[in-house]
Amino acid sequence: MDIFSEIKPLRAFLDTKRDLHLSIGLVPTMGALHRGHLDLIRVSAQENDITVCSIYVNPTQFNNPSDLAKYPRTFEEDKEMLLSAGCNVIFAPLNTEMYKVPSNLRFDFGYLDKILEGEFRPGHFSGVALVVSKLFNIVKPTKAYFGQKDFQQYKVISKLAEELLFDLILSSVPIVREESGLAMSSRNKRLSESEKQDATVFYQSLLLAKQLLLSGESIEAVKIKSKQKCEAIPGVRLEYLELADTENLKPTQLVSGNAILLIAGYVGEVRLIDNLLIG
Ligand code: PAJ
Repeated sequence: MDIFSEIKPLRAFLDTKRDLHLSIGLVPTMGALHRGHLDLIRVSAQENDITVCSIYVNPTQFNNPSDLAKYPRTFEEDKEMLLSAGCNVIFAPLNTEMYKVPSNLRFDFGYLDKILEGEFRPGHFSGVALVVSKLFNIVKPTKAYFGQKDFQQYKVISKLAEELLFDLILSSVPIVREESGLAMSSRNKRLSESEKQDATVFYQSLLLAKQLLLSGESIEAVKIKSKQKCEAIPGVRLEYLELADTENLKPTQLVSGNAILLIAGYVGEVRLIDNLLIG
């Protein structure tokens, strides 16, 4: 496995692979890897000759400075995990490499980045789009892999790739969960054992919401019940539970195969998200 922290040698290395007509899969991450990330690596390794994993905690997508400061960093463990999952290249740049000049570039995705995560984390998706554009330009992957866990992020990146004419294929990989149902997340590393147990309430709320909706309850009634269920646990706060159309993320009342339930909330200081497709 080759490790690069600078753009120029990584580009030169990948050019030699492209000259040999080898395909390149890119898995962008912020490190503190878990089995969810490794699934993306495995799928990429199956579908491409070379798999590149980027590990970069991108400051421009954090709207909360303490969330950025406390983001877990576990590079040595990450390296071991990537090697065993079939990764060929790690790209782990410093801020000075990724932002050689301070950036004033801002992305506006209209409705898509004003709702759900966009409403509670202003500027977040602009920062994601900025860093993902940089990564696409550096690696020029054949395919890039993202998790369904960050469903709205995948929608934003799809729009980005479409509008900026990035010549690549995007792929979305299903959510990997703990046995308890808790969606794997790097931020889970900040939870105590009892908080991890408390955090399962988000997935349980999604399951209950789906069941209630399918039995005919209105989304409004389901939202109230979900809030009560989550906030019956001390330290848990629900930010939103929404039913949306998978195509455009507009709120919907239609409980159909084209709908998705999305949830976000806090356990103590840690903000978590999850989602569940209705179909
Ligand atoms: P990060 O949170 O590290 O996630 C990297 C990728 O792993 C994302 O595509 C995310 O959706 C996926 N992922 C996370 N948890 C998962 C799970 N439980 N199951 C399946 N996939 C999962 O998302 C980011 O980083 C950043 O915003 C990034 C795209 C790297 C830009 O900085």
